[in-house]
Amino acid sequence: MASSHILFVGLMMITCSIALASDSSPLQDFCVADSKGPVLVNGFACKDAKLVQASDFFFSGLHLVGNTSNAVGSRVTPVTVGQLPGLNTLGISMARIDFAPWGINPPHTHPRATEILTVIQGSIQVGFVTSNPENRLINKVLQKGDVFVFPEGLVHFQRNVGHGNAIAIVGLSSQNPGVITVANAVFGAKPDIPNDLLAKAFQVEVNVVDQIQSKF
Ligand SMILES: *[C@@H]1O[C@H](CO)[C@@H](O)[C@H](O)[C@H]1NC(C)=O
Repeated sequence: MASSHILFVGLMMITCSIALASDSSPLQDFCVADSKGPVLVNGFACKDAKLVQASDFFFSGLHLVGNTSNAVGSRVTPVTVGQLPGLNTLGISMARIDFAPWGINPPHTHPRATEILTVIQGSIQVGFVTSNPENRLINKVLQKGDVFVFPEGLVHFQRNVGHGNAIAIVGLSSQNPGVITVANAVFGAKPDIPNDLLAKAFQVEVNVVDQIQSKF
């Protein structure tokens, strides 16, 4: 009985440490990002707590419609530590995503965050792809009020499949989730990833790679 109890506690400890895999917990009430601080740490140095104001914990603007006049027909308005310094060390952020009709948020990954999305307006197809070797596509069409989660690090996308514009609000489990858009990283790297390397990776002719690289 005692040994099974110890085993249970041990498993709980392992589970809890796995749950801390994202941004670590704060060591103080808050640590408002001092973007002018000269110290380079994982995150930002803290602004003097005595100088902190309500405005450090505040962002205004998510009521504004994002400009979707671009090649993909979507716009992400982020509220990360870059826009809201009070998020420093808190392990959380959010964003608004606007979609023109048939607009997409192209396949991308957040290297440091799980993402949870809810639809505010319209119908949005969402999906993510599991790791190698299965690379299974898990996707679904969401309606207003529906919620979907994209597990940390996995490549995912969204597309407006309804009539008119669509809006989503997302939460992210990092103050600075990062974004790697697959097409931009692979075909828009500066300097270019060698085209013959990409031709072999994608099993196409080099001129096909040249054509795609020219778009980025
Ligand atoms: C939206 O973006 C396009 C392309 O950059 C620009 O031409 C247009 O003026 C912008 N519209 C608004 C309302 O800002």
